Amino acid sequence: MTVIAVAALKGGVGKTTTAVYFAWAMASSGEKVVLADADRQGSALRWADEAGGLGDGVLTVGATTPEALRGLRGLCNGAEVVIDTPSR
Ligand SMILES: Nc1ncnc2c1ncn2[C@@H]1O[C@H](COP(=O)(O)OP(=O)(O)O)[C@@H](O)[C@H]1O
Ligand SMILES: [Mg+2]
Repeated sequence: MTVIAVAALKGGVGKTTTAVYFAWAMASSGEKVVLADADRQGSALRWADEAGGLGDGVLTVGATTPEALRGLRGLCNGAEVVIDTPSR
């Protein structure tokens, strides 16, 4: 399992876009991917919802608390994890 956090101090620099496309691209090459939205604004969740999902290989979950982020390890069952993080 690999955990990739897409992070930057500033907003509007492409974190969510990168996380969503990265998760989709990994799933398109056969990986199982959990896309975790750690931003309370929920942009990645909304994106996946409006797109009708990101394909069979991507499970999108909200994880805005430390407990939820720690719980990802159990949830993921070996899948790759991409985390979209909030700005500072
Ligand atoms: N590689 C890129 N080239 C041009 N515009 C981009 C690129 N990545 C993101 N954007 C645009 O920049 C804006 C902010 O992107 P977003 O992913 O929401 O940033 P963040 O999550 O860091 O706040 C959006 O309008 C998005 O479409
Ligand atoms: Mg964002």
